[in-house]
Order: sequence, then structure tokens, then C-alpha cells
Amino acid sequence: MKNKKVTKAIFPVAGLGTRFLPATKANPKEMLPIVDKPLIQYAVEEAIEAGITDLIFITNHSKRAIEDHFDTNFELEYHLEKTQKLDLLNQVKAIHPDKINCIYLRQAQPLGLGHAILCAKSLIGSDPFAVILADDLIDAKQGCLSQMAQVYQEIQQSIIAVEKVPLNKTNQYGIISVPENFSRIAKLNGIIEKPEANKAPSDLGVVGRYILEADILDILQNMMKQHEKSGLANKPELQLTDAISKLLTHNQNEVYGYRFEGKRFDCGSKAGYVLATLHYGLKHPEVMGELNAVLKGNILELT
Ligand code: UTP
Repeated sequence: MKNKKVTKAIFPVAGLGTRFLPATKANPKEMLPIVDKPLIQYAVEEAIEAGITDLIFITNHSKRAIEDHFDTNFELEYHLEKTQKLDLLNQVKAIHPDKINCIYLRQAQPLGLGHAILCAKSLIGSDPFAVILADDLIDAKQGCLSQMAQVYQEIQQSIIAVEKVPLNKTNQYGIISVPENFSRIAKLNGIIEKPEANKAPSDLGVVGRYILEADILDILQNMMKQHEKSGLANKPELQLTDAISKLLTHNQNEVYGYRFEGKRFDCGSKAGYVLATLHYGLKHPEVMGELNAVLKGNILELT
């Protein structure tokens, strides 16, 4: 009887972030702040809460700011100590907790989410691993990944986070096929990438949290070989959804959809990002007062 624990997480951050241009021309999308903390830091904190100890970032040449964020900044720490800004000093030091390993790999070309994950194959070996897309920000009492890790302890099979999406948006998500009327968790019959509403098997869309068995890396590798064999100059992107669909019929694998508890914001879109900023701003002690006043229409109070 296997009893595997998830301790490795992949953070694919090598996308181009075209929906957020021009902000993402020189700055990584994942470094956009929600109030005062970058998206990637929320994601890392969620992973650590779930028991992850190895953080694997799939980056590219324009994402160096992410490495710097999780590295020590001696000059800043010296200054904060000297000026007795100890609260800030502690916050800065806590960004990279002890006993957590940060590993950075480069994806040379943006060949898709599936390809980004495949880049970590040699680091994952045969272990189960988590994938977190930092632009899906989830506010939850118990972190979404921690909820999923708890379920994984029981079922020891791949799990993907899903939520209800509006029917006119099924073509923006991977959509799962599951038995109707399940409450929290259900075994997948199938999954398809971005179907139109009339072809969607349900209204449950995949969001950016996965726990996957290492078998999926072999599947992705085979898909990659086939892409290369096809010899297309412009290779199509390697889709994670297609690999999950193949995983469903591979060896003894089962894949489960998990409806998490929490509120999710699509921070890869401008509207989702602004909504997240309002949501977190209304909870932030330095911001909530003024923001509340503005939202109640008492703008004059501020001037
Ligand atoms: P998205 O589909 O959101 O693409 O990728 P994107 O490039 O980040 O943003 P848009 O759509 O152009 O605005 C989903 C996740 O997969 C990563 C992205 O960084 C994001 O976390 N990704 C995507 C890679 O790491 N490599 C890729 O080749 C593609």
C-alpha cells in the first residue's frame, strides 16, 4: 500500500503574459502585487502551508525578478536593521523560510504549460508533485493546495482543482466530465481543453492547482517526441489538459476533480486582478479604511 506525500511543487512562470501587456513587457506577471505582496509570494505561501519543501520555478530570461524576490537582499536587510524597522525586516526575511529549497529552471521557448512542467522531469523522478499557477489567486481559510494534499493522503491519486464557470466562459478553461451532483470530489471520466458551451461536458472548469502522479511526465515526454517528429516549424503548445486526458487511461491511474473551498481570482485577466486587489485591500489593515470609504461613496472624507 503506497503512502506518498507531496513535497515538491512546480511553479510554471515562463508564460508571456500577453493579456497583461504593457505591464508585463519587462516585468513578470507573477510579480504584480496584490496590495503589497506579489502574486508569486501568495502562491509560495500556499505551497508551504501544504507541506511543500521543494519549490521548482520554471522561468525564462525575463523573469529574473522572481529569483531576486526569493533571494537575500543584504543591503536592504542591513538598512532596515540599522533604522530599526524590525517589522519590515522580519517580513522581508520570512519571504524565503529556512528549510525550503528554491530551484530555478529555464524553459527556452514558450511551448505551453505541459512543456513547462516537463522541464522539471529529472527533479521530480517518480514522486507525486503539485503544480501551482500563481495567477490563479485563491483566498481560503485552509489553503487550496493544503485541502488537496489532505485529500491526496487518502486517495493517493492525481487531483485537480475545479470550480463552476459561467457557460459563456467554458472556452477559456479545461472542462471536466464527471458524474452529476457530486459534492466535493469525483472521479473524472474525461477532460477537454476549452470547449464551446454546447460541447462542454459540464460547467466545471480547471483552475491552477494540481497534484499529479509522475506518470504524467512520461506522457508529456511522448507527446513532445510526437510533436518533434511532426517536424512543424511552429510547434503547437504542449497542453497539460491533453496529458491529463491520456493519464486517465494510463496504468492504474485515476484522476479526481476537487471542488475547493475558497474564493478564486483570475489575476491573469485585468478584471480579475482589479477584483482581487479590492478583495485583499478590504482585508488589509493599512488600506481597508480608505478603501471602504471610497466604496461607500464618501470620497470627500479622503481629501
Ligand atoms: P497562460 O495561459 O496564462 O499564459 O499560462 P501566459 O503566457 O501566462 O498569459 P497570457 O495568456 O499570454 O496573458 C498558464 C500558466 O502557464 C505558464 C504561465 O506562466 C502561466 O503560469 N506557462 C505558459 C509557462 O510556464 N510556459 C509556457 O510556455 C506557457
